[in-house]
Amino acid sequence: MSAEEQFKKIISHCKEYGFIFPSSEIYEGLAAVYDYGQNGVELKNNLRQYWWKSMVQMHQNIVGLDSAIFMQPKVWKASGHVDGFSDPMIDNKDSKKRYRADVLLEEHQDKIQDKIDKEIEKAAKRFGDSFDAKLYSDTNPRIMEYYASISLIDNTLKTGLETGNLDLIKALIEQLEIVCPISGTKNWTDVRQFNLMYSTQMTATDGESELYLRPETAQGIFVNFLNVQKSGRMKIPFGIAQTGKAFRNEIVARQFIMRMKEFEQMEMQFFVRPGTEMEWYTYWKDTRLKWHKALGTNTENLKYHDHLKLAHYANAAVDIEYKFPFGFKEVEGIHSRTDFDLGRHQEFSGKKLQYFDPETNQNYVPYVVETSIGLDRLFLLQLCENLVDEVLENGETRTVFKINPVLAPYKVAILPLVKKDGLPEIAEKIYNDLKFDFNCFYEEKDTIGKRYRRQDAIGTPFCVTIDYDSVQDSSVTLRYRDSMEQKRIKIDELHGLISEEVSWKKLLNNL
Ligand code: GAP
Repeated sequence: MSAEEQFKKIISHCKEYGFIFPSSEIYEGLAAVYDYGQNGVELKNNLRQYWWKSMVQMHQNIVGLDSAIFMQPKVWKASGHVDGFSDPMIDNKDSKKRYRADVLLEEHQDKIQDKIDKEIEKAAKRFGDSFDAKLYSDTNPRIMEYYASISLIDNTLKTGLETGNLDLIKALIEQLEIVCPISGTKNWTDVRQFNLMYSTQMTATDGESELYLRPETAQGIFVNFLNVQKSGRMKIPFGIAQTGKAFRNEIVARQFIMRMKEFEQMEMQFFVRPGTEMEWYTYWKDTRLKWHKALGTNTENLKYHDHLKLAHYANAAVDIEYKFPFGFKEVEGIHSRTDFDLGRHQEFSGKKLQYFDPETNQNYVPYVVETSIGLDRLFLLQLCENLVDEVLENGETRTVFKINPVLAPYKVAILPLVKKDGLPEIAEKIYNDLKFDFNCFYEEKDTIGKRYRRQDAIGTPFCVTIDYDSVQDSSVTLRYRDSMEQKRIKIDELHGLISEEVSWKKLLNNL
């Protein structure tokens, strides 16, 4: 199956099995906005809980926060979002489609990279074992030309964006003869910056004011820094964690839930003594990668991507990328944000945002290391990593979602073999005993084989089947999702066995 087919399959699986639906679908949907269905919401809640437990519950010096989405508009002026949070956009006059100019250029670079890879592959076949790929790409004139073209794009884009000279970017698009994928023409408008923040109106007694929907949850943490520090008597280094919705006017909607207009972030700002930020940056960079691996994600599908171009507030930044079917893409960012945000809020609000350090006897504006992960991207990662088609011994195929059992939407499905002869009564009793501790699924309809397949597709790690022997000896069949192994166990052993397999402790202990 090609990567594109695999991705399409994931999207249709999400709809068929109640994970994700397009928003307002009966009205033809809304681009880049999605709803989480009955299984999606459970998985999303569990992923959020994993993050929260590992960040807040597992660290004495990290506490939580739930700040409002609406904030005083001055917050966004201070943070730099009003003036600088924008994307360079270009329209094709024939197709009337709008594109991100930087993405058009990056896609062009990807095509050049493909050509380089093909050249190297061909040469490797030609030269056999003695082939030195590095030497070849450093000396082959054609490959050198390709690399020069990639760096020209990087440099021009950087200069254009940094100096605000967007004509440079348009000229480069024309020079590279990039065409619109829809119309196939090079009939482009000028490049313009579009701010990504949504605004709305708030009516008060003294009139209307413009408000923004927050584009990141982080600013709610910064403006509450002193409230939390003082009321919680927090000592530096300490962190404040928050999860919640963020909104961005992503004009070019792409790749399902990868780039949405309304999405959820899980962010933690870690406040440190100035001068120690690089130590903490390294600590959080390692810790966050470990966190992803603890979920069972294949190490080869994860990598760091250091930011070469740093945002004006950062002195170091790295992304954790995952190998999605459409290539390695960012799931999480770790940023050393210096004292930029607290410093700006101090300046714009006129209120001191300082910490008195009893160890050094000094007042200072703390430095901040941020970890920021998109919950929706983490959700998509789980699907890409764990949704597999397996060919069984009898030649049939089953689709199984091999999600970590702790995160599965349902932990156990309770399935009476038939709808009569006292079997449903036993099944219901089991359901009523287990439901206090586990999310249980109850189903009587269809053959047992079909019911097992449905549970495999939504990732339920255990199925419990109640049959005629259960009436005699109070035992049931326990079926394991991944191995499909079935074993007979006593009803009163079920709780202990399932608890062990789906315990948060088991997962958090891997950290
Ligand atoms: N406070 C820092 C910040 O917001 P960011 O790199 O812009 O940094 C952090 O966003 C994370 O939020 C990203 O790594 C990504 O997982 C997620 N994210 C950003 N934009 C998104 C979008 N349009 N749709 C889904 N997730 C998004």
